[in-house]
Amino acid sequence: MSQQVTFHDHKPKESNLYSAILYGFSQSAKTIPPKFFYNERGSRLFDEICDQPEYYLPDAEKTVLNRCVNEIAEITGENRVIFEPGAGNLSKIRLLLDVLKPIAYVPMDISSDFLKSAAAGLAGDYPWLPIHAACVDFTHSLPLPEAVPDKPRLAFFPGSSLGNFHRAEAKEFLLMIRQALGREGMLLIGVDTKKSVSVLNAAYNDAAGITAKFNLNLLWRIRHELQAECEPDNFDHHAFYNRDEGRIEMHLVSQREQAVRINGHRFSFDPGETVQTECSYKYAPEEFLALATDAGLQPIKHWLAKDELFAVYLLGVSAWEV
Ligand code: AVI
Repeated sequence: MSQQVTFHDHKPKESNLYSAILYGFSQSAKTIPPKFFYNERGSRLFDEICDQPEYYLPDAEKTVLNRCVNEIAEITGENRVIFEPGAGNLSKIRLLLDVLKPIAYVPMDISSDFLKSAAAGLAGDYPWLPIHAACVDFTHSLPLPEAVPDKPRLAFFPGSSLGNFHRAEAKEFLLMIRQALGREGMLLIGVDTKKSVSVLNAAYNDAAGITAKFNLNLLWRIRHELQAECEPDNFDHHAFYNRDEGRIEMHLVSQREQAVRINGHRFSFDPGETVQTECSYKYAPEEFLALATDAGLQPIKHWLAKDELFAVYLLGVSAWEV
């Protein structure tokens, strides 16, 4: 890795697949936290999801960011430290860098090898940019490396990743962002909107079956990484929009009566029993703005994609926080 890129490992021990599965499979309604999607293969599958025609989010967001980046820069100014929780393949920050000209960039991701190679690729394309890549479980904490310059910060949280938190957790996360932003900080965040159920359902059930592979990858991880007796082929992907809750739910559905055995523990599954693997909440703009305000963030401006398919918001830290 070049000197332009430094790497910081802040992944806490609690972010451990084994303990999460023992806990999640012991509940009456079984769950797996969505952060476990993102091992090397899962991160690649997520990139593939983003290329599927039904998964409208990335294109809608990219169109908004391209259209509004100059306006965003006029408000934020240059020379900020930009940090991006869940930065993934680092493709979205490329839409901003030449205009926002940050003094440093801190991509944060749980998938450490994936992050390292993405950071090296970004460094090659932006040789002027100091990159402090941090392996972080952003659902847990947002530690910025000490070497980061003491300049106003901008958190970049695109892709509607906020939607993967339940509502109360989303507020906690925004409070954590506000804390990490400090004085003069701003947040640029992309959040998916509410829309027709057929568009939403199609986005999480792509015809090529990539989202299904992404979901089932959790069971392959359990089988390989925990040496479990687990047959992923005996489960189906199931995703649907729950209108009452305003969220997509993803589940793994057991096709039959079966058991998963992990290190002496036995978890039984009834036919049709599900493991909930993800929720993806959708927010009308006024709903999101109320949530953000509640978390001490001040709306500055927001931009909507065509047909209100997606929204990008710029927010500041409310004065009473500092
Ligand atoms: C990362 N996150 C915002 C995606 C979403 O839309 O909730 C994850 C995803 N799950 C299935 N498709 C995409």
